[in-house]
Amino acid sequence: MKKQKIEIHLDVFDSVSELPQDIQKLMNKAQEAREDAYAPYSHFRVGAALILNTGEIITGNNQENAAFPSGLCAERVAIFYAGATNPNATIHAMAITARSLKQKITSPIPSCGACRQAIAEYEIKQDAPIAIYFMGETGKIVKASSIADLLPLLFDKNYL
Ligand code: THU
Repeated sequence: MKKQKIEIHLDVFDSVSELPQDIQKLMNKAQEAREDAYAPYSHFRVGAALILNTGEIITGNNQENAAFPSGLCAERVAIFYAGATNPNATIHAMAITARSLKQKITSPIPSCGACRQAIAEYEIKQDAPIAIYFMGETGKIVKASSIADLLPLLFDKNYL
């Protein structure tokens, strides 16, 4: 038996003002999108913003449904829209923020597993890493330089 260690690398920023200028703008767009979330059941609003190689910013937010599994997370709303409307563009970075109407979220909220898997698909498709920045409503921001740091041992087309 051999033991294997997997390392992941994350950067932590203390506040939005510490982020590079273009990412501050991206996070602001995610915050704006978050407020338009349709989250009448969870009262947990998530916003995501993607920046493409063209400079275009695409946003998304969570869309819930009375039949719960029919809803979709903010990250996938944004990335599927990017894939649908800009199929040949490269996604450089993604900013994600969450706010609950029930309590103040002061720590970074990582994306769910299904969203990580969806992001991985696009990173592999474009053969270039997507930097992912995520935060709560306030507080620290975590940066992963690639989805591989959030989803080690991911499933991809090479296994098919
Ligand atoms: N949600 C997201 O939008 N992104 C995630 O990565 C985690 C969860 C949404 C789904 C649902 O509308 C609400 O947050 C509570 O789970």
